[in-house]
Amino acid sequence: MIRVCFVCLGNICRSPMAEFVFKDMVKKANLEDKISVLSRGTSDEELGKSVHSGTINELERHHIPYTLRYATQLKKEDYDSFDYFISVDSLNSRLMRNLFIHDKDLKIHRLLDFTSLKKDIADPWYTGNFTVTYQEIELGCQAFLNYLIEKHSL
Ligand code: 4NP
Repeated sequence: MIRVCFVCLGNICRSPMAEFVFKDMVKKANLEDKISVLSRGTSDEELGKSVHSGTINELERHHIPYTLRYATQLKKEDYDSFDYFISVDSLNSRLMRNLFIHDKDLKIHRLLDFTSLKKDIADPWYTGNFTVTYQEIELGCQAFLNYLIEKHSL
C-alpha cells in the first residue's frame, strides 16, 4: 500500500479538499487497494474543527464524495506511517522538515511541483477564493496520481 498524507496549515481548507479529490481519483482509477489517502495540518490552530464550508461547497459543486472529519495535527511520530507527505505550499514543507528534524527518506513534496505551475497553493482562509484552490488542487492531484502510476508501475 502506498500511503499518502496531504498537509496544509489548519487541516480544514486545502488538505481535506486534496484528500477527497485524490480519493475520488484513486477510486475512479481502481487503485483503492494500492493507495491510501489522509490529510493533516501542521498547526494546532483549528484542532477538532470540521471541514470549512468553502471547501465543502467546492466538493459538492464537483460531485466529489466527502465524509465528516475533524482537523488533526501532524505529529513527529507520523513520519513512518506515510510514504508521501504532500504539502500545499512551501511554508508547510518547511514546517514538516522542522517537525521531522529532517526528511531522511525524501517523503516531502509540494503538490504543484508535480505540475508545470511549480508554485504554492494560496490559502483560501485568507483569499476567500475556494474556486481557484479547487482548480489547482485538481490539477496537482491528477499530476501526482500520474506520477505514482508511473513510478510504482500501478
Ligand atoms: P488551511 O487554511 O491551512 O488550508 O486549512 C487555514 C485555516 C485556518 C488557519 C490557517 C489556514 N488559521 O490560522 O486558523
